Amino acid sequence: MFEVDVLVNWRRHEKWFAIVLLLVSAMFFHVRAFVGINIGTHVSNLPPASNVVSMLKLYKITHVRLYDADAQLLKALANSSIEVMVGVTNEEVLKLGKSPSAAAAWINKNVALYIPAINITAIAVGSEVLTSIPNAGPFLIRAMKYLHKALVAANLNLQVKVSTPQSMDVVLTSFPPSTATFNSSLNSTIYPLLQFLKTTKSYYMLNVYPYYGYMKGNGIFPLDYALLRPLSINRRIVDPNTLLHYTNMFDAMLDATYHSIKSLNFSDIPIVVTESGWPWSGGANETYATKKNAEIYVNNLISRVLNGSGPPSEPTNPVNAYVYELFSEDQKPGPMSEKNWGVLLTNGSAIYRLSLISSSVTGSSSVVYCVAKDGADPGKLQSGLNWACGQGGANCSAIQPGQTCFLPDNVVNHASYAYNDYYQKMQGNGGTCDFEGTATLTNTNPSHGSCVYIGSANAGGGNTDGGASVPAPSLSPGPFSSFRSSSSKLKAQLFHFLLSSMLLSASFLL
Ligand SMILES: *[C@@H]1O[C@H](CO)[C@@H](O)[C@H](O)[C@H]1NC(C)=O
Ligand SMILES: *[C@@H]1O[C@H](CO)[C@@H](O)[C@H](O)[C@H]1NC(C)=O
Ligand SMILES: *[C@@H]1O[C@H](CO)[C@@H](O)[C@H](O)[C@H]1NC(C)=O
Ligand SMILES: *[C@@H]1O[C@H](CO)[C@@H](O)[C@H](O)[C@H]1NC(C)=O
Ligand SMILES: *[C@@H]1O[C@H](CO)[C@@H](O)[C@H](O)[C@H]1NC(C)=O
Ligand SMILES: *[C@@H]1O[C@H](CO)[C@@H](O)[C@H](O)[C@H]1NC(C)=O
Ligand SMILES: *[C@@H]1O[C@H](CO)[C@@H](O)[C@H](O)[C@H]1NC(C)=O
Ligand SMILES: *[C@@H]1O[C@H](CO)[C@@H](O)[C@H](O)[C@H]1NC(C)=O
Ligand SMILES: *[C@@H]1O[C@H](CO)[C@@H](O)[C@H](O)[C@H]1NC(C)=O
Repeated sequence: MFEVDVLVNWRRHEKWFAIVLLLVSAMFFHVRAFVGINIGTHVSNLPPASNVVSMLKLYKITHVRLYDADAQLLKALANSSIEVMVGVTNEEVLKLGKSPSAAAAWINKNVALYIPAINITAIAVGSEVLTSIPNAGPFLIRAMKYLHKALVAANLNLQVKVSTPQSMDVVLTSFPPSTATFNSSLNSTIYPLLQFLKTTKSYYMLNVYPYYGYMKGNGIFPLDYALLRPLSINRRIVDPNTLLHYTNMFDAMLDATYHSIKSLNFSDIPIVVTESGWPWSGGANETYATKKNAEIYVNNLISRVLNGSGPPSEPTNPVNAYVYELFSEDQKPGPMSEKNWGVLLTNGSAIYRLSLISSSVTGSSSVVYCVAKDGADPGKLQSGLNWACGQGGANCSAIQPGQTCFLPDNVVNHASYAYNDYYQKMQGNGGTCDFEGTATLTNTNPSHGSCVYIGSANAGGGNTDGGASVPAPSLSPGPFSSFRSSSSKLKAQLFHFLLSSMLLSASFLL
């Protein structure tokens, strides 16, 4: 089929660029965080597995978590290069915790069978077991140990990590973070859990819901704090013991968990956020479950994670997160909001705008420029400019009279060009975008006319004409660069091709 051919070629092309971009950006950004997505299946009109995978590819989703090990979905994910976390259901936990051979059979059927066609990187054993079925604690730990043993036997233990997602509710008094500890009644499970994670070099899986934290707070936290929106300095929340500043609840919840782990004398167990999201619709008493809030939260979460930094107490420990969730699970019991966490409709349309990382500055793939700050002192700009073109080693020939970036002939324009040239060349060696506070990073391409600024994504190549010509959003390897964020008409057309072929195949199946 013609459409499919186009799609395949385009994808190949794009993959090549994405790989180059990734390699280059990896040189400059030592950490690489990812955003994945949860796929719950309590959905009335769940699309066929192959269509689900097409949607994942369309939105450039690189990591998924399944709540079970559904064979249809796993088969459709084969050879897709999407990384997969599979799940043991809470019902299965009891069975596997009683029998090493059942655990070994589970690994064979749901993991070993699919490797290497599917990059399965983790097994989430149960879901919030400690808070939903506290008595199952001993079975949970045994199930994890048996599963790990079976992985060792299959020589898959280095590739596939075993862990279990926890609710924030296992932590008492999560604010201020430095006072947080685990509920000590759960110690008989949490302690061996941490021992297991530490010895198997696995990670702590955490479900982080500022939505619930905000609801429970009954107005003590600003909504912006829950939505990861910028807070004015005087509204930032300071932990009185550590003096760390918290600009959002997501980071505070991570630190509360890190602190709880530390207070049991464990260290070096990273946290992976297995769920986080915001419902876009709810009942009459769930007034914060709105499309607008969901859009703000999810997009801010994506840029927060892709900025590559950890929470205040663990700044160098990047946090990876799986958005909750791909489709709304209308068949779930509970309050109205419970059924409305999805980001896509089952026909593949986004429920609200899903933007890529355009607002993040040090994300793994966005193009970043260093320019003169608005309103900076002209004297300081002039000395910054002189330094950049002299000692700094920037190539300032383009801002000489008659050259492409000479106009407009003012110090702001010239300093911007020189700062950016310096920064792009030197950031890999510790060069910063500061210049005595007169410089700032931006995602807005300052190129104009034939004056071309180098962008971060290709700074290493030493080619000065690529920066502006690379249409960043459509080539970014990151997740969620939806077709809406792309200026490319082709991409929008392909989206329609894809959807019509999906609908076509769906109607064949009926
Ligand atoms: C995945 O790719 C491998 C190697 O190219 C091939 O042998 C296998 O059949 C593919 N699996 C599926 C399910 O497409
Ligand atoms: C699978 O994912 C891991 C973790 O990101 C990565 O290191 C590895 O290269 C991937 N393997 C394949 C075969 O894609
Ligand atoms: C601590 O855990 C126990 C056992 O699950 C539970 O009964 C208790 O309510 C928890 N305490 C708090 C304050 O959540
Ligand atoms: C938790 O359990 C471990 C191992 O039994 C014990 O060493 C530790 O003191 C306990 N911690 C708390 C806070 O109960
Ligand atoms: C952690 O270590 C400190 C110092 O070694 C000790 O005083 C404290 O009791 C330990 N706490 C636990 C929960 O084991
Ligand atoms: C909202 O109302 C529903 C039904 O009226 C009730 O079941 C639910 O507990 C309420 N939710 C909250 C958060 O108050
Ligand atoms: C990343 O986001 C956190 C939380 O908003 C912020 O404190 C931190 O400064 C950001 N890091 C960078 C490098 O932008
Ligand atoms: C998906 O369904 C929604 C609502 O029914 C509709 O507005 C939207 O146009 C559909 N999207 C596509 C691509 O068909
Ligand atoms: C400096 O930039 C100009 C174009 O602006 C280019 O022609 C020249 O080759 C560059 N010089 C060096 C040493 O990179």
